[in-house]
Amino acid sequence: MGAPSLLLCLSAVLPLLLRADECQNIRSLTEAQPAKQPFAIDCTSPLLTAAARATWYRHPSEAPVSTDRQARVHQEQSWILFLPLAWGDSGTYRCLINDTDECHQVHVNLTVFGKYGCRRNSQRILPDGHEQILHVGGDDSLSCHLNFPESCVLDLNSVKWYKDCKEIKEKRFEKWGKRLLVNNVSAEDRGSYACKANLTHAGRQFTVSRRIAVNVTETVGYAGRFPKITYPINDTIEAQLGSSLTVNCTITDSRDNTNLRCWRVNSTLVDHYYSESKRVQEGNETCVVFQEHAVYTVSITFLEVKMEDYGFPFTCHAGFMSAAHFLLRPPAPDGRVYLMGGLLAVVGAAALVLCASRRFRIDIALWYRSAFISTSPSADGKLYDAYVLYPKPPQDRQRSAVDTLVLRALPEVLERQCGYKLFIFGRDEFPGQAVANVIDENIKLCRRLIIILAPEPLGFDLLKNMSEEQIAIYNALIQDGMKAILIEVEKVRSYASMPVSIQYLRQKHGSVQWSGDAAAGAPCAKARFWKKVRYRMPPKRFPPPSTASSGAHAL
Ligand SMILES: *[C@@H]1O[C@H](CO)[C@@H](O)[C@H](O)[C@H]1NC(C)=O
Ligand SMILES: *[C@@H]1O[C@H](CO)[C@@H](O)[C@H](O)[C@H]1NC(C)=O
Ligand SMILES: *[C@@H]1O[C@H](CO)[C@@H](O)[C@H](O)[C@H]1NC(C)=O
Ligand SMILES: *[C@@H]1O[C@H](CO)[C@@H](O)[C@H](O)[C@H]1NC(C)=O
Ligand SMILES: *[C@@H]1O[C@H](CO)[C@@H](O)[C@H](O)[C@H]1NC(C)=O
Ligand SMILES: *[C@@H]1O[C@H](CO)[C@@H](O)[C@H](O)[C@H]1NC(C)=O
Ligand SMILES: *[C@@H]1O[C@H](CO)[C@@H](O)[C@H](O)[C@H]1NC(C)=O
Ligand SMILES: *[C@@H]1O[C@H](CO)[C@@H](O)[C@H](O)[C@H]1NC(C)=O
Ligand SMILES: *[C@@H]1O[C@H](CO)[C@@H](O)[C@H](O)[C@H]1NC(C)=O
Repeated sequence: MGAPSLLLCLSAVLPLLLRADECQNIRSLTEAQPAKQPFAIDCTSPLLTAAARATWYRHPSEAPVSTDRQARVHQEQSWILFLPLAWGDSGTYRCLINDTDECHQVHVNLTVFGKYGCRRNSQRILPDGHEQILHVGGDDSLSCHLNFPESCVLDLNSVKWYKDCKEIKEKRFEKWGKRLLVNNVSAEDRGSYACKANLTHAGRQFTVSRRIAVNVTETVGYAGRFPKITYPINDTIEAQLGSSLTVNCTITDSRDNTNLRCWRVNSTLVDHYYSESKRVQEGNETCVVFQEHAVYTVSITFLEVKMEDYGFPFTCHAGFMSAAHFLLRPPAPDGRVYLMGGLLAVVGAAALVLCASRRFRIDIALWYRSAFISTSPSADGKLYDAYVLYPKPPQDRQRSAVDTLVLRALPEVLERQCGYKLFIFGRDEFPGQAVANVIDENIKLCRRLIIILAPEPLGFDLLKNMSEEQIAIYNALIQDGMKAILIEVEKVRSYASMPVSIQYLRQKHGSVQWSGDAAAGAPCAKARFWKKVRYRMPPKRFPPPSTASSGAHAL
């Protein structure tokens, strides 16, 4: 080899050597790993720019590690992979990072020891792997440290957990991805754990296991700055029924924490709670690493918001102590539309009720009576259901109308058809009795007072055409609170000239107008006019159970 070629060779190697020495050591790692297991180390750093290029070297070799993916030890992106580790791999490794005009270096001391075994007590001299801590009394989790580049596909269904070499089957422990949830942690949970999983790389299958030394602490409160959930903030979120929705939980935590981040509903992992329908799912965790802390995002996705989701807390958990929830609520409708709609609904309903009650009140009441009123006579000591008070109009036409109503129609319908018993002055008194006595004695035996009103415009004066006694008595009765039924023979246009008590009665109970056409045919209890009268009469079953006892008055 000539001098020029040697020089050429030196000039190619020298800058590298010089650079390696100049390179700033940004990290030093000590790794103790069992043989015959896949293992990988990443040397990226958040300090580096996207342009940074990493190169792995095994000391003292100056040749970079192979990038051939089939090689047992090779580099992929910024990772060095051992598929699997061999005894001879123990040693020092360096990762040189060429970032624009700076150079960084990561230094790794790797020790390979014998495969984990459960048969002998040899465990004692073997490193115990990662230490993780569980907090007594709460729900906590362990993490299986399976850090590999994307080219290594982990079969998460194959993950198995062991405690002191026995597979964990207890219900208190829940497998969840690379995690093991430990509910209601107790002091007995301290011990040596291992997780195991299958991994495929470039068509080759491997089994990885990791050992975890678990210590248990009693926590009294939580004073740490981390983890801190910045969202959600125990608030409510509007969501349309049937829509899809994604909510992010944002957590700030220390770097290299082992905290579990998850969404729970009713204390159950969302993925487990909705394991059947998968309608609500937890998303993959994303992480942005900063110099001293990391910001994590875990999403929850509702494929379709359902009624049962409203008001149900969905809680994001970060580690042992931090939790925050949100509630869903239906979107508030436009205020004005809502108000108008509500108003319209109320007015409509009121109108409907009013209409219905006006139209059917009487029918409903009569139907109720016919269905439920007892047939036995009421024991109130009264002999008659109504006292009929009527004037004697001077004109013939009027008189015949009043007479028809009082002497024919009322007895026919109320007495014969309905079974009421009426006291009609001029029909029911005994001959020779003094008028005042008749009224005074009999009216007290009546439950109602029927007052027949003849129309006024024809010069008819109620006061003049009733006996003084009658007037005095009805005044007294009204004061006693006896119920009165006003029947207008013809439409009364003005009550102004009527006695005040009549005006009062009309105001209080209203009046019924006789259609008068009863003269044309046989009056019937089912006609509208008679229903109105019957409605005002004392409750009685219709049709009456027996008509034999009443309506016997002959005219
Ligand atoms: C480092 O990067 C610079 C420019 O990007 C390049 O010229 C140099 O060859 C690189 N060195 C190594 C060892 O990759
Ligand atoms: C790596 O191990 C060697 C020998 O075992 C030791 O001398 C050296 O200090 C270690 N380096 C680091 C960074 O731990
Ligand atoms: C994991 O790999 C082992 C050995 O290759 C195999 O026996 C086992 O069935 C695998 N488990 C799963 C869940 O694929
Ligand atoms: C937690 O475990 C303790 C005993 O270890 C038991 O007394 C307690 O009831 C458990 N709590 C729950 C919520 O299961
Ligand atoms: C477990 O933690 C306790 C205190 O929290 C400590 O005293 C003890 O040394 C730890 N045990 C191990 C094996 O690290
Ligand atoms: C949730 O977080 C992810 C990752 O940070 C982001 O891409 C996504 O837009 C966020 N979604 C919502 C609804 O905020
Ligand atoms: C919530 O969990 C409790 C206890 O596990 C259970 O009794 C209850 O039915 C659950 N509620 C719903 C809505 O799932
Ligand atoms: C989460 O990651 C897995 C594999 O890493 C992928 O198959 C899945 O689609 C991801 N889910 C979401 C919601 O991004
Ligand atoms: C928010 O709710 C969680 C329970 O879901 C509770 O632990 C936490 O203290 C609440 N935070 C605030 C600020 O009220």
